[in-house]
Amino acid sequence: MSEKSAKLILPSGEELDLAMYSPSEGNDVVDVTKLVKSGLFTYDPGFMSTASCESKITYIDGAKGVLLYRGYPIDQLASQCDFMEVSYLLLNGELPNVDEKAEFIDRINNHTMVHEQLATFFRGFRRDAHPMAIMVGVVGALSAFYHDSLDINNPEHRVKSAFRLIAKVSTIAAMCYRYSMGHPFVYPRNEMSYAENFLHQMFSMPSHDDKPDPILVKAMDRIFTLHADHEQNCSTSTVRLAGSSGANPFACIAAGIASLWGPAHGGANEACLNMLNEIGDVKNIPEFIKRAKDKDDPFRLMGFGHRVYKNFDPRAKVMRESAHEVLKATGKQDDPILKIALELEKIALQDPYFVERKLYPNVDFYSGIILEAIGIPTNMFTVIFALARTVGWVAQWSEMIAEPTQKIGRPRQLYTGKSERSVQPIEER
Ligand code: SDX
Repeated sequence: MSEKSAKLILPSGEELDLAMYSPSEGNDVVDVTKLVKSGLFTYDPGFMSTASCESKITYIDGAKGVLLYRGYPIDQLASQCDFMEVSYLLLNGELPNVDEKAEFIDRINNHTMVHEQLATFFRGFRRDAHPMAIMVGVVGALSAFYHDSLDINNPEHRVKSAFRLIAKVSTIAAMCYRYSMGHPFVYPRNEMSYAENFLHQMFSMPSHDDKPDPILVKAMDRIFTLHADHEQNCSTSTVRLAGSSGANPFACIAAGIASLWGPAHGGANEACLNMLNEIGDVKNIPEFIKRAKDKDDPFRLMGFGHRVYKNFDPRAKVMRESAHEVLKATGKQDDPILKIALELEKIALQDPYFVERKLYPNVDFYSGIILEAIGIPTNMFTVIFALARTVGWVAQWSEMIAEPTQKIGRPRQLYTGKSERSVQPIEER
């Protein structure tokens, strides 16, 4: 794979030839695995310049604002496919034909219900517990129920666990909401589509028959697609690292959920809507822009900026279209929060501070507006993100486990602590 190489000349005069590999898309990489033999580590906090693995699943061109799932542009997938087709694509590498899609959906539907004992886990939480805290606990606890599919080296176990996770994460997410509302849990209905089934389990009431609004179902399905995978982001790297130790897939996905919760990552959609509500009126926007630029103020403009995108996040563009559709369908096109969001976007994109740093709206900027319009409470936004990202985490985890050369992830460090010293008796300290 390596035709090019890079030369590293050390202070000692030693010259190291480091192999370089060229990707199908994106940046060349320098293989530094041999450095440790010369007593050296690389130093790259936050992994800004580090490729942690080889992958064939998702590609982002941050400068051009491009996102490809298995080579297909995200805007084409969001407009021409549904979430089940995209899930099949991420897991298998190709879009399904009609029969393949039908079989995939059947296999998902075999696993949409959760063990009745799992429902009792919820009783241990306060009703006002943050649903992400419940998700971390309950998804991790799934491994207590499925001893028949925990051998990660058995491909059949991996596939079965993948279907169980994708199917059950939606049911568990809805259960988090129902529990917080004091409403009875709703069983999945397998004649419904994945997104419709989720909204059914979220909002249907035993007192009357109702079906989710098809426009809201389409928006929910699109949100799932847009959040499904995103290269080696913080939570996906967490899943890969946890999986590299041989931990079972349910525990690895629970680790990913915990990592996604942070406001700098998946928690940004909840933080963004809270920020828009705090701004409260278009006239207050300049004060918040000023705070976002103030280095002494930890406030960041939630929903803006990205580690990789230094252009518009292509998901934000698709999300913005959906926001208008959903607000129109729900009669909220004059929603004051949307007005604030549109004005904030316009002002920020003209401000030199944001322009110079290439800080554009990201996936979280509009998703909160859509979710709120659908009637989903703010503290459930990151749960929706985790629900959607589960298929990406599972696809990345499966790719890693199947990689013959994969090792346990174990970064080194730049140690600047005390050199060795002796313990003094307490009387002499
Ligand atoms: C997601 O990685 C992924 O792919 C993640 C994700 C996925 O699908 O998995 O895309 C999902 O997490 C999207 C990002 C959601 N987070 C937010 O919206 C929170 C707000 N954004 C920032 O916290 C920040 O932009 C990050 C964390 C997203 C990116 O941080 P970086 O790459 O470490 O950028 P940085 O902090 O080095 O910023 C560079 C400069 C700094 O200023 P200077 O030191 O150069 O003067 O830009 C500033 C930062 O202070 N900056 C911001 C800002 N984001 C960066 N200033 C104000 N508001 C912001 N939002």
